[in-house]
Amino acid sequence: MFLKEPVLAIETSCDETSAAVVLGRNVLSNVVASQVEMHAKWGGVVPEAAARAHVEAILPVIRQARADAGDPKIAAIAVTNRPGLLGALSVGLTAAKALAFHHGVPMVGVHHLEGHIMSPYSLPDSEFSPSFPYLCAVVSGGHTELVAVKSPGSYQIIAETCDDAAGEAFDKGARLLGLGYPGGRAIQDAAESGDPTRYNLPRAVRTDPHRLSFSGLKTAMLRLVETEGSKISVADAAASLQAAIVDSLTAKAVWHLENSGFQGLSLVGGVAANLPLRTRLGSECQRRGLPFWTPSLSLCTDNAAMIGLAGSFRRAAGEHDGPDLDCFPNSPLPSPPGG
Ligand code: KG4
Ligand code: ZN
Repeated sequence: MFLKEPVLAIETSCDETSAAVVLGRNVLSNVVASQVEMHAKWGGVVPEAAARAHVEAILPVIRQARADAGDPKIAAIAVTNRPGLLGALSVGLTAAKALAFHHGVPMVGVHHLEGHIMSPYSLPDSEFSPSFPYLCAVVSGGHTELVAVKSPGSYQIIAETCDDAAGEAFDKGARLLGLGYPGGRAIQDAAESGDPTRYNLPRAVRTDPHRLSFSGLKTAMLRLVETEGSKISVADAAASLQAAIVDSLTAKAVWHLENSGFQGLSLVGGVAANLPLRTRLGSECQRRGLPFWTPSLSLCTDNAAMIGLAGSFRRAAGEHDGPDLDCFPNSPLPSPPGG
């Protein structure tokens, strides 16, 4: 299913400059230069600043990834070309084109979400050999989608957020509580000593199982912070927010697991690094006798290793992009190779 030779991968779609080398489904190296500290000053990602930081980091990061992998001969280059911030994407894409031309190797453009969806292939064979179709929860700062994976490379979105992503709710909540940016990890840490039942926040458990929503929760958090003022317990508010997000995601995922004959559930994307969410979904699957898969924490947030896996898979299926490969801010999930 994967190319049997090393693939160099590049990811610059948002605020992490990353390069990796994968061989088959083995991750030989994965280097991530995060811009988080820089963007934290502004409370969110500033696209112009992100692009400039990618320009500064891209060559050292690629060099490091190749060195960490033992400098193998590269057979193909995988690069995220959609969706993402255009200025940021174009830095990685330009580097990929130059390297592909210089080394005379093929280049494959990868959809960022297909990278996240394929990230569990970084687990050993014995832990991730899925039966199809299975359900994949893609939960990040920009996306919240439940995807039916019908076969490798064949995807159908069966539920998605009609407003904000779950990661945005974590980030907004953290900002309101003065916990900084990005907020997911900060909320998780603060929630550890908090009471999740202290504040009553809305669950996005609407009647429609195909829609998720997090904007109401963001507004409810704002009201809570305004009403409680300095009396607010940050730990209890963080725990209540996290519980609301975990409950909402779990309710929708479980509905589809129970009603659509899926053979298992995978959890991917930055919010997949949330430990209570991993534990909850894991136990819901266990209770139903279904396998649950989620990559290691470092392969949940944005990284090039997952782009390498998707690129290696598509290259093995014969895909190849030319020097006119473009980048796109929005893009539907890709079709199966050759489809
Ligand atoms: O996948 P990702 O790195 O970038 C996008 O493609 O969006 O996801 C970033 C998101 C941010 O919203 C961040 O707050 C969230 O993932 N995140 C977490 C945790 N670690 C990162 N959310 C909850 N708990 C965490 N431990
Ligand atoms: Zn992502």
